[in-house]
Amino acid sequence: MHLPILNRHPELISGLVPHQLFHLSKKSAFATLQLGVKNKTMANKQLNIGLFGFGVVGKGLYDVLHTTPTLQASIKKIVIKNADKKRSIAAEIFSTDAAVILNDESINVVVELIDDADAAFEIVKTALQKGKSVVSANKKMIAEHFEELLQLQQENKTALLYEAACCASMPIVRNLEEYYDNDLLKSIRGIINGSTNFILTKILEEQLDFKAALTLAQQLGFAESNPKLDIGGFDASNKLSILLAHSFGVIAKPTDFIFNGIENIALPDAILAKEKKQTIKLVATAKKLANGELAAFVLPQFVNQNDNLYHVQNEFNALTTESTFADEHFFKGKGAGAFPTASAVLSDISALGYNYKYEYKKIYHQTDTVLSNEYYLKVFISTDDLSKINKDEFEWIEEWHNEFKHSWLVAVIHAEKLFSSDWWKQEGVSLILCPDAIIETVEYKKISKRSLELAGVV
Ligand SMILES: NC(=O)c1ccc[n+]([C@@H]2O[C@H](COP(=O)([O-])OP(=O)(O)OC[C@H]3O[C@@H](n4cnc5c(N)ncnc54)[C@H](OP(=O)(O)O)[C@@H]3O)[C@@H](O)[C@H]2O)c1
Repeated sequence: MHLPILNRHPELISGLVPHQLFHLSKKSAFATLQLGVKNKTMANKQLNIGLFGFGVVGKGLYDVLHTTPTLQASIKKIVIKNADKKRSIAAEIFSTDAAVILNDESINVVVELIDDADAAFEIVKTALQKGKSVVSANKKMIAEHFEELLQLQQENKTALLYEAACCASMPIVRNLEEYYDNDLLKSIRGIINGSTNFILTKILEEQLDFKAALTLAQQLGFAESNPKLDIGGFDASNKLSILLAHSFGVIAKPTDFIFNGIENIALPDAILAKEKKQTIKLVATAKKLANGELAAFVLPQFVNQNDNLYHVQNEFNALTTESTFADEHFFKGKGAGAFPTASAVLSDISALGYNYKYEYKKIYHQTDTVLSNEYYLKVFISTDDLSKINKDEFEWIEEWHNEFKHSWLVAVIHAEKLFSSDWWKQEGVSLILCPDAIIETVEYKKISKRSLELAGVV
């Protein structure tokens, strides 16, 4: 049997063993060829990119794309904000007019890498409405407009991918979306902000002061243009908000859960962590409680040496997933910086080449999970002034230390009390979670506390 077409396209027959080839009729050989060509065409779809932003990540993407010749993607136009800024590449490709990308019908992919969440939303919205696929790294914009973006994708049958928005190069969004589709997740817990992890590493391991560590993070391109987004915990909570949707099908804004940053961590806290052979990390947690509801928060936490997160240094991010059948997985990767972030953007662009889109399976099929503050947290609180702490807020206090100009305690507090107040975020008060902080029931402790009270012991 002579199969001239297949002979010219050996890649189409590489998956077939010889006897299968021998039994191929001309008709089925042609069908195989057609199928192969169709898949090949989808995989090699020409992607004409309109890029918004040429800062740390935008420039990183430009460089990375030019060293990835296998991907059939090219940047046609770049829109930036400031026409007068000196650029490292030819001026002709730049414009300050968003319409040159949004109104260009030959551009089928918009890559949004700007540092202005409001402008980014307008760009992404218009691009999706015009039927273009979009890749974005803008976690603030995505977290703030999650539901609208979901609707825009559905209405316009287009895709919005944002792997780089969560933990930069660490591939977590697609993994949560695809891998944990059937294996039910019990918890996710991790370091999801590279800049604060970098700052904490420099303070705790290299004794840099806060300001010097932040300046270094900014110089290396790890920090957001507005550093308050990082150190105030806003960036990590925007990411947790996105991760909640892909892991548990919960659509929640950062204002729906407890969060704080690292600004109030004091030097004595770091010294105490060292003495206890622990470190301090900004940790995002989402955990299914026994009643099926979900606890979610972003807070600084003391981390023991036997915890995988202890060893995650500098701009690295990491996430532990716990699921019913697979048990634990530990992901680690660079969570900031030009090339690591561009690598995730590149992966999304490549995924568009084979028409990948998020199916948001958990949002549509696991609708029963809701956020809850019905649990307790074991916290360490230090302060320069004890009058800033209302000890009646606590279920019980386990340790209490008064030192000159610095006091600290370890206590258990109901999560709702943290959620509905902000005395613990004020200057001069530092709240850090103890390891294994979540306590689901305190009944036994309450009874024992009451009996001690009745006996006049406390
Ligand atoms: N840096 C990281 O490690 C990292 C990691 C993960 C995700 N991200 C996300 O990636 C995005 C970009 O971050 P970046 O660090 O690359 O920021 P950046 O270095 O500050 O660059 C921002 C770019 O956006 C442009 N821009 C601002 N407003 C614009 C507008 N309205 N229209 C067009 N262009 C506009 C700026 O133009 P000019 O050049 O004219 O000023 C600049 O080129 C942000 O959403 C950030 O959260 C960053």
